[in-house]
Parts: sequence; structure tokens; C-alpha cells
Amino acid sequence: MSQVFPGEVFAQTTDFDAGIRQLLPNYDQMLAAVARCVPANSRRILELGCGTGELSHKILDRCPAAEVIALDYSPRMIEFARTKINQAGYQRWSGIEADFGEWANNPEKFDVGTEFDACVSSLAIHHLSDEMKAKLFQRIGKSLKSGGCFWNADPILPESPVLAEIYKAVGEEWTKNQGTTIQEVRSRLASNSDSVDYATSYGYSSQDQLATLDAQLQMLMEAGFNTVAVPWKCYGLAVFGGIV
Ligand SMILES: C[S@@+](CC[C@H](N)C(=O)[O-])C[C@H]1O[C@@H](n2cnc3c(N)ncnc32)[C@H](O)[C@@H]1O
Repeated sequence: MSQVFPGEVFAQTTDFDAGIRQLLPNYDQMLAAVARCVPANSRRILELGCGTGELSHKILDRCPAAEVIALDYSPRMIEFARTKINQAGYQRWSGIEADFGEWANNPEKFDVGTEFDACVSSLAIHHLSDEMKAKLFQRIGKSLKSGGCFWNADPILPESPVLAEIYKAVGEEWTKNQGTTIQEVRSRLASNSDSVDYATSYGYSSQDQLATLDAQLQMLMEAGFNTVAVPWKCYGLAVFGGIV
């Protein structure tokens, strides 16, 4: 029985692209905001937790001279992304099967280098503990060129219980408006499947470990980012990051 890691979400990788769009309000708009904040003339870009390669694809489209190095600890996700990116005709993408928590702690073990123009991530870093998020932001800051940027799209810890209820309701309304039900989408989740071995934690990641937006902006400032910003926010999802 195959093991499915935190962040893979669905039991079958082939369900991810359609399923995540049914689950999350404005997924494409959110990834487009990350890509839009990366300078189009970037040459070296690091992506953390690439999944099926949807953000990679948008970044490769936006940055015609960029080489994208994408990390993901799931061999299934890396393989799926590789096939998609190859079929789209890009030869500027390398997928590396690796845990980005391990990269934060022991960068010397990795052959990814530094001096990146940009680092991007979507829906992945919230699987780390807050301590590891802070360490990862430090590592990202050190791996960027001066003037380089980091943009992360992630769910945030709601600002209050009332807002948590609102964000939850908005998510359910979104799913219903996609012509399906929360129950139907949930039936495809790895956590509800008998056909896979669902790992509640793997490597440095566990199930959702949300932090407030404010706490994460503070971590970025402590990691030496000169500009810290939130270019996009939609209820409980935010694109945030900064420039070193
Ligand atoms: C929800 S998916 C998002 C994928 C993609 N970025 C997107 O937005 O569609 C999260 C991805 O992060 C990966 N992931 C989670 N924790 C990780 C870690 N510690 N190291 C590497 N990959 C990780 C999972 O394998 C999964 O592919």
C-alpha cells in the first residue's frame, strides 16, 4: 500500500489538480499572484513543495530565462510534475526529491546552490512547525541574492474564532459553487481513503500547522527581509513574503 505524505491531500495524485480547485477559493488567482510578484527577468528560482507543478508552470511562463529548481519530498508528486512540465515543452525545470525542512537545517547536504533571484512556494510551508518555518525563512533569506524575493501562498491561522467560521463557510460555499459537495471532495482525500497508507507526519512535515499572518511577517523581518508584504489575501489564504 503506498504511503501518502502530509500535503499530498488526495489519495490519487491524478485527483489533485481538479480537486484543489474545488476545495480552495481562487487557487489559480493565488498562484498567479505569486508568479506576478517574481521579476520576469529572474534567472534562478527555487520552489519549495512543487506538488503537481502548477506554480512551476506559471513561473516558467512568466520568466522566459529562468531555470526552476523544485523540491518536493513526494516521489509521486515530483514524477507527476516532471511529466506535466516536459509535456508543456519546458527544459528549464529540475525536480529534486527532498524535504525542505532538511534543506533549512542542513543546506550543505544539497546541491541546489544559493544566489537565487527568487524563492516561491504554495500550500506547503504551513506543514512545518512554527520553529521550522522561522528556520526555513532564515535559510531562504540567506539563499537569495541581494534584492531577491520570496513569495509564499499559504493558509493562515484565522485572526479570530468569528473569522475562522467565516473562512470555513466561504470555503464550503466555494466548493458548492463548483457543482460538488464538501463530502464528495472529502471522499477523495488521502485522510479518508482505505486504499492508501496516510501518514499524519513525514520528515519535517505534519498536518496543517497554521500560523497567523502577523507571526509569519515577524519571522520574515527577523530573517533579514528588508521589505515584507502581503500582495494578495482572500479570507484564510494569503500570498506573503518579501525582498532581501
Ligand atoms: C498541497 S500541495 C501543494 C502543491 C503545489 N505547490 C500547489 O500549490 O499546487 C503541498 C506539497 O508540499 C509537499 N511537501 C509538504 N511538506 C514538505 C516538505 N517538508 N518537504 C518537501 N515537500 C513537502 C507535498 O508533498 C505536496 O506536494
